[in-house]
Amino acid sequence: MALEYRVGILAALIIAGGIATAAISHAHEGHDLGIKVQIPLILTPVEKAGKEVYDAKCAACHGKKMEGTHKGPSLIPYDRAHHPDGYIARAIRYGSKQHHWNFGDMAPVEGITEEEIGNIITYVREIQAFNAEL
Ligand code: HEC
Repeated sequence: MALEYRVGILAALIIAGGIATAAISHAHEGHDLGIKVQIPLILTPVEKAGKEVYDAKCAACHGKKMEGTHKGPSLIPYDRAHHPDGYIARAIRYGSKQHHWNFGDMAPVEGITEEEIGNIITYVREIQAFNAEL
């Protein structure tokens, strides 16, 4: 009886632990909006140039496909109507204080030219538009 009782408690603890772990890992993924992003196979030369800089300077936090990571938000829902191009340029040049999300602040991106910023914006808008059509 006492043994069964203990086994019962142990089983309950294991189940509770499993649920807690699942809840924690779920919360961790909570930043990932579960967005499945497709990158078009054909890109214009400017979009390609933008992709190169994006992959090197933004993907680590915003995701290889702009799907977001635990270090930064997805850029896919960052639509032009609410967030004009100037917002993207400003975030790159001056960083962004935490406001919409809870990822912390974005630091200014160092060593990037105005031309590269323009190319990234073109690329981001293309990926947003492409995925809006899907
Ligand atoms: C070290 C991580 C990191 C890198 C690298 C990074 N970002 Fe961010 N970015 C963030 C975080 C964190 C936020 C959210 C800050 C906030 O709440 O506004 C953010 C926010 C943004 C926003 C939204 C700003 C706003 O006004 O709401 C844009 C646009 C953006 N990033 C673009 C970029 C681009 C483009 C690059 C590459 C040139 C880049 N980021 C590189 C972490 C990063």
